[in-house]
Amino acid sequence: MIDFNLSEDQRAFQKVARDFAQKEIAPVAMQFDKEPSFPGEIIKKAHAAGLMNLTCPPEYGGQGIGLVSAAVVTEELNAACVSISGMIGINTLACGPILVGGTEEQKRRFLLPLNQAGKTAAFCLTESGAGSDAGSVRTVAKMEGNHYVLNGQKCFISNATYAALYSVFATIDRSKGTKGITAFVLPREMSGLSTGKIEDKMGQRAFNTAEVILEDVIVPIENRLGEEGEGFKFAMKALDEGRVNIAACSVGLARAAFQASLDYAKTRVQFGKPVGTFQAINFMLADMAAAVDSARLLTWHAGSLADREVRYTREAAQAKFFASDVAMRVTTDAVQIFGGYGYMKEYPIERYMRDAKLMQIYEGTNQINRMVAGGALIRE
Ligand code: CAA
Repeated sequence: MIDFNLSEDQRAFQKVARDFAQKEIAPVAMQFDKEPSFPGEIIKKAHAAGLMNLTCPPEYGGQGIGLVSAAVVTEELNAACVSISGMIGINTLACGPILVGGTEEQKRRFLLPLNQAGKTAAFCLTESGAGSDAGSVRTVAKMEGNHYVLNGQKCFISNATYAALYSVFATIDRSKGTKGITAFVLPREMSGLSTGKIEDKMGQRAFNTAEVILEDVIVPIENRLGEEGEGFKFAMKALDEGRVNIAACSVGLARAAFQASLDYAKTRVQFGKPVGTFQAINFMLADMAAAVDSARLLTWHAGSLADREVRYTREAAQAKFFASDVAMRVTTDAVQIFGGYGYMKEYPIERYMRDAKLMQIYEGTNQINRMVAGGALIRE
């Protein structure tokens, strides 16, 4: 039998996350969108409330609650604000390579102090010439004695400006393609590591995006994850979880847009009736509700496979492209239902639509995620 009910623990976590989101995040979401800044105080409170590092095992300073439970929490936070919640949840992806490829000693050395202090990290894969084609990174790691020297430039890196730790992917030999890519962990204070231009984005404006610049950074061999050439697989495995996380973020955003639309459609009267009772709007609401529910089920299904330690690459990709497409459609329909009010910056609806667009782009464009899912279908 399939049980769609949340456990008592999951319901308790959901309530903590919902209360936190409504009290600490929702009231300031519009302000952070207008004037983006680091939500340090909110991150500190989220950390104290146990809402960070959700799937990271407790021995490394995380909550260790599993991916389905994490999706429940993530949905709640993102229903309030995708940008601020993105900064709270960034370690899911950024610390993923350490959990996937690190030794016991490395996990304790890197993750424990970071997570105990409530600090955040960054996942540095993308470069100007290596976006969808992540295997073509040009950042070079050259071995010299007992250390590597890293040179290169990463772009569009989430949380780059504020991270205390960077998971960095570099090649030891470009001719080897993905098999030359190697993963390293770089603490912020390493000489030669700096951050560059902060991007001015259409949406998710307080979710920091910037360049990471590496100039002759000396990285001890002890900071390499796994063997040379294993980095690409670590990145892909971290992205499997990251994509379920983005799906949960998308569900939260879509749910918020749907709920606002429903409330409005019940109270906005035109031609003597609430607009939600006109079939044109009523059918839109029905489609929005079905889409949000479907996206949530795909997300939980992918999470449940991860929790059972079954390979879930295809399901993660499916959940990501489906849920983020749902977020785009539902937020666009929300603007339509609100009409002129939906388009004005005075209300949150237009922000929802701007925020949704990025979800179809990051952690693999939805075209790439369809490629991942489609490829797996043929191979399975
Ligand atoms: N788990 C384990 N292994 C995996 C894997 C996975 N999920 N995906 C691929 N691999 C393995 C393959 O099996 C293959 O191994 P073998 O050679 O031993 O068979 C190896 O990795 C190479 O795989 P591919 O041949 O499939 O590699 P590719 O060059 O064709 O690329 C791709 C595949 C799916 C297109 C990949 O490049 C990709 O995911 N691109 C998108 C990049 C991306 O998502 N970037 C996001 C940046 S981070 C971000 O956006 C975060 C943020 O800001 C919030």
